Amino acid sequence: DRSIKIAPSILSADFADFGREIRAIEDQGADWVHVDVMDGHFVPNLTFGPPAVAAFRRHVKTVMDVHLMIAPVDPYIEAFATAGADIITAHVEAGAHIHRTLQAIRATGKKAGVALNPGTPADAVAHLLDLADLICVMTVNPGFGGQKYIDMTGKVRQLRAMIGDRPVHIEIDGGVDPATAPGLVAAGADVLVAGSAVFKGGSVHKPEVYGANIAAI
Ligand code: DX5
Ligand code: ZN
Repeated sequence: DRSIKIAPSILSADFADFGREIRAIEDQGADWVHVDVMDGHFVPNLTFGPPAVAAFRRHVKTVMDVHLMIAPVDPYIEAFATAGADIITAHVEAGAHIHRTLQAIRATGKKAGVALNPGTPADAVAHLLDLADLICVMTVNPGFGGQKYIDMTGKVRQLRAMIGDRPVHIEIDGGVDPATAPGLVAAGADVLVAGSAVFKGGSVHKPEVYGANIAAI
C-alpha cells in the first residue's frame, strides 16, 4: 500500500557517518527519517540533543520525525523545533501535562505526536485526539534498538477506531520487520519505524542494501 510510510530509525545507523546514512535511506525509498532522542532518565540510554538534530536536518530532505524519550519535555520543545524537526513526539508517560505539551508543540508550528509505552492503554490518548497529528504505539519498551517485538495489534485496532475520520497517523516503533509489519498495517498502522530491519546493526553498514530492506517491510 503506497500510503504506508517507512521511517528508518537512525539509532541503528553508523554514528560516525550520519550524512551518508541519511542520504542512503532517502535515496532508497525511506519516506521519513526517525530520530530517537533519549535522556538517560526517562529511558536508560543517551543519544542526541538539539545540536545533533540540527546537523541531521542539513541532510534530511523528506520528513524529520523526532521521537523524544525525555522527561521533562516542555523545556526542550522550542530547541527541537528550532533544530528543524517536522514532527515532535512526546510520551504520555513523560509528565503530568501531556495535553499542555501537545499544545506547546503545535504552537511552534510543528506537527505533534504522542507516544504510548507498551504498558499504557489506548484510553490514555482518548482526550488528546484533536491535539495530535500522530500516535506512536511502542512495540518495545523504549531505550534501545534491536529488541524483541511486543504485539500491540489489539491496541492499534482500538486506536484506529477511536481516531475515526480524524487525520491522525498511527506509527509503530520497535521490532518492525517483514514478519511483524503486515499485521500492524492490517490493524490500522500507517507509519512503520524500523531500525535494525533497515540498517541490520552490527559494525559493518552496507548502504547498498538499505533499499531492499525497506522494500521488504
Ligand atoms: C526504541 C526506539 C526505536 C528503535 C527501533 O526505543 O524508539 O525507534 O530505534 O529499533 P528497532 O527497529 O531495531 O526495534
Ligand atoms: Zn523511536
